[in-house]
Amino acid sequence: MGDNIQRVLVTGALGQIGSELCASLRQRYGADNVVASDCKDLSGSKLAKAGPTCTLDVLDRALIEKTVVHYKIDTIVHLAAILSATGEANPDLAWKVNMDGLYNVLEVGRVHHLNQVMVPSSIAVFGPGTPLENTPNDTILRPSTMYGLTKVAGELLGSYYFDKFGLDVRGLRYPGIISAETPPGGGTTDYAVAIFYEAVKHGRYTCFVRDDTRLPMMYMPDCLKATMDLMVAPLHNLKHHTDFNVGAMSFRACELAAEIRKHIPSFQCDYQPDRRQNIADSWPRSVADDAARREWGWRPNFDLETMTEDMIKRLQARHQAGEL
Ligand code: NAD
Ligand code: SER
Repeated sequence: MGDNIQRVLVTGALGQIGSELCASLRQRYGADNVVASDCKDLSGSKLAKAGPTCTLDVLDRALIEKTVVHYKIDTIVHLAAILSATGEANPDLAWKVNMDGLYNVLEVGRVHHLNQVMVPSSIAVFGPGTPLENTPNDTILRPSTMYGLTKVAGELLGSYYFDKFGLDVRGLRYPGIISAETPPGGGTTDYAVAIFYEAVKHGRYTCFVRDDTRLPMMYMPDCLKATMDLMVAPLHNLKHHTDFNVGAMSFRACELAAEIRKHIPSFQCDYQPDRRQNIADSWPRSVADDAARREWGWRPNFDLETMTEDMIKRLQARHQAGEL
């Protein structure tokens, strides 16, 4: 397990993380060995130009099964999900996609004896009652969002499949992911991405959380590294499986704006908190990731300063190329 990955199916591949993770997985395992899937049409996407793709709704278990058999898949990276803000607006959809979708993937994994199923979790598993500073890996999990609730249940379901059926299910609790390629899809931490796009395009941004809101964040290269490092970690070293905290940086919204201003001095940011403020307030300000460091050697490469510099460089290049 772990070192035995040969043919990978990625669900939700058109999303913020999938669009970049597929490219990295293809570099590691070979372009033909990574099948990118999403419920949306992938034809014409960058992913379709670089390797196999298929339209796949994770609510369709028979189609997941058919795809696994057809492509001789041994590992599923299950990214299809409804994120926190969209989930609060549409809890019914969040429950269906995040729970039924995961259950379908795990059942296919069990029946077809897959080597591994990788399922991201989130800092959204935490909520009122959890220590907000340096939140421990193993602590109170009482989220106040439908999204968080499905992530807690997902972690437990994954552990159940490992304990009961020996299916190697792994997962990390990503913080807010910041990236310059694909915009995020309906989360609470989206402001930390949108601020860069707006700074580069228009020189100003209205932020939907208060200036003093501090949340854990991670730059995409570290997200890819964390995911792929955990995928190949020797199973016998893992005491946790589906629920690793992974930290990289934590900052207030106003600190992010100040860092951007070092590169774009005229940048202006104002703050108009909306319904997402309540979600942000319920999440940790920073996380303790000692379990990930100990069990599979997690170390981030980017902090606020180096992430900001790289984000602005990439987005300015895309802006000049007329892509934004
Ligand atoms: P995203 O919203 O950008 O992408 C999700 C993708 O899933 C979309 O392309 C969407 O079309 C697809 N999808 C939705 N319903 C589907 C269905 N029924 N069948 C198949 N595909 C479907 O999400 P992301 O940011 O790439 O997140 C990937 C994973 O990482 C999710 O599990 C998410 O909870 C987790 N995560 C993300 C972040 C973050 O900041 N991006 C933080 C914590 C955890
Ligand atoms: N970035 C995600 C969200 O805001 C956290 O899981 O929903």
